[in-house]
Amino acid sequence: MPQYAILVQPSANRVYTQQAARLVGNELLALDRLLLDGRVAARGGPAERTMGGVPYLVLDADLTADDLRVVANLSSLFALFELRDDGALLPVDTDRLDRYDDDLLTILKYVGKTNEQLTRLLLNLTAAAALPRDGFLGSRVRVLDPMCGRGTTLNQAVMYGWDAYGVDVDRRDVEAYTAFAGRWLQDKRLKHRTSTGRVRVAGTTLGRRTTFTLAATKEEFRAGDVQTLEITQGDTLDADRMYRAGFFDVVVADAPYGIQHGSVTGPRTPSRSPRDLLADAIPVWVGLLRRGGALGLSWNTKVLPRQDLVAMLVDAGLDPLEDAPFLGLAHRVDQAIERDVVVARRPG
Ligand SMILES: C[S@@+](CC[C@H](N)C(=O)[O-])C[C@H]1O[C@@H](n2cnc3c(N)ncnc32)[C@H](O)[C@@H]1O
Repeated sequence: MPQYAILVQPSANRVYTQQAARLVGNELLALDRLLLDGRVAARGGPAERTMGGVPYLVLDADLTADDLRVVANLSSLFALFELRDDGALLPVDTDRLDRYDDDLLTILKYVGKTNEQLTRLLLNLTAAAALPRDGFLGSRVRVLDPMCGRGTTLNQAVMYGWDAYGVDVDRRDVEAYTAFAGRWLQDKRLKHRTSTGRVRVAGTTLGRRTTFTLAATKEEFRAGDVQTLEITQGDTLDADRMYRAGFFDVVVADAPYGIQHGSVTGPRTPSRSPRDLLADAIPVWVGLLRRGGALGLSWNTKVLPRQDLVAMLVDAGLDPLEDAPFLGLAHRVDQAIERDVVVARRPG
């Protein structure tokens, strides 16, 4: 039975790095449950082990090439090795979904940016809950981040070759992200088209929108094999008037933490708590999910306990995934923020 060792990626954030091995271990077990038929858990699951003074996650499992393609996308996987009986580590070539330079994920730095690895974890688990393995590895998943800030989720979705749609009420965030995306596409000389306009529904302007249509190669662009990256400045509570019902496979958001300058704003949500905002927004987002699609949220449990958020998801008609690996993803961000992750499926 082959043994594998995962070298965990250090994060720019020391607090996250300290928790990364546990988080990526539970991410692996959750992906195993959803996409690998439990083959990793059947062998006892991953265990943390220090080799040469460096921490690894070690697992026993008979994994196919496609299984390894899933594992390759783990949020904090830096390198994957086969661990030989004599202790030697043999590098395994990883075939990640990533199709662009990784500076797409790292260039933008700003206060309030959601940790990139946590964003990838949340997107991985939510997409895995919404799609079969072939779909996860080989389709153009349609992703909405309805509170997208400066686009950490959108960048990760584009990186995977998926279609990314974002809504945020904060004009400065939307303008900064739109400017970044346009510049990045130009700097990388990627073939793309840009269109900008207002979103008007029944005589009301809901917001301003920029749509980029892009492809990794000229040939794909010419053949119409293109990705969409679209960002709308507007209130998330209007998202069901911006997009048609059932349009998205996956909805993923890092909710406001409810600290610092109130953080929740919007024409229809003046100074609301995260609890009130989520109570109103979740039914809107659920309507945008196709049947069998999934919603993934990260949020601050210091302002909203997990059981309360889970109850909101159930009330909105979703099935939260509440088994062990999904319950092991809470982590400390700082004194005021304990962040957790929840994934819930819209019944098929
Ligand atoms: C924790 S931040 C998300 C950060 C984002 N993931 C990033 O890395 O840039 C929460 C976001 O929710 C947005 N927000 C709060 N209320 C909103 C509303 N009513 N409609 C749309 N966005 C809202 C805030 O502007 C903020 O950008």
